[in-house]
Amino acid sequence: MRRLLIAGNWKMNTDLREAIQLATALKRQLAEAEDVDLAVFPPAPFLADVCEVLQDTAIEVGGQNLYHEPKGAFTGEVSAAMLVSVGCKRVLVGHSERRQYFGETDASCNQKLRAAIAAGLRPILCVGEVLEERKAGRQEEVVKTQVLGGLEGFSVEDMGAVTVAYEPVWAIGTGETATPEQANSMHGFIRGLLAERFGVDVAQTTRILYGGSMKPENSKALASEPDIDGGLIGGASLVAEKFAAIAKG
Ligand code: 13P
Repeated sequence: MRRLLIAGNWKMNTDLREAIQLATALKRQLAEAEDVDLAVFPPAPFLADVCEVLQDTAIEVGGQNLYHEPKGAFTGEVSAAMLVSVGCKRVLVGHSERRQYFGETDASCNQKLRAAIAAGLRPILCVGEVLEERKAGRQEEVVKTQVLGGLEGFSVEDMGAVTVAYEPVWAIGTGETATPEQANSMHGFIRGLLAERFGVDVAQTTRILYGGSMKPENSKALASEPDIDGGLIGGASLVAEKFAAIAKG
C-alpha cells in the first residue's frame, strides 16, 4: 500500500521572515499528522532556516531545483550536495514553470534526477501537458515522452528514490482542477508506463502525486482515487491552515 505524500511547492514566494513563520505554523499544525508523508519546497535562500525549524519533525524539506554538476563555475546554480548539506531530503525536477521559463528539457531533467539520486536526495519528477496538447488529445503522448525521457537509463534501484508528479499545466494556478477521473486516468497511464519499463513492483510502489489547483475543497476526492498518491500543492501550500487541512484529509 502506498502512503500518501502531501508536498507544498512554495515557488518564488515568501521572504525569510514569512518562510520561517509558515514553517513554524506547519510544525505546530501538523505535529500529529502521522498517516501521511509531508514535504515542503521553500525558495533556495531559506532552505537552511526552514530545515532548522522543521528538524525533528516529520515534515521533510526539499529544493525546487538543482543543477546536475557537483560544483564549479556555474554562477547562480545550486548542486545536489549543497541541498543535502543544509538538510534537504528531496528536490523537485522538471516543474512545468522550469520547462516553460528556463528551458528545461527531458534530457536536462534526466541529468538532474541522476545527480539528485547520486547525492542521496529523493527527487519528484514533474510532468504534464499544456492546454493545447490536451485539446488536441495528445496528453498521453506528451506525458509518455516526459516520463520515459526523464527516467531514461534508470535502474529499478534508482526508481526506489523517485516520485512522479502529474501536473496538467492548464490546472496550475488557474483554479481549474483536473477532475478526479481525469487525473486518475492519467495516473493509471503513467503507472502502466512504469510497469512496462521497470516492472510491476516499481509501478506499484512508485508514488504518483497530482498537482494543479489542489485545495482543501477538492483534495479528498482527488486523493481517494486509487492511482493518486498525494498532491503537490502550490498556492494553497502558502497558507498553513489550508496545507494542514489537505494533509489531514
Ligand atoms: P497550484 O496549486 O498553485 O495550482 O500549483 C500547483 C503546482 O504547480 C505545484 O507544483
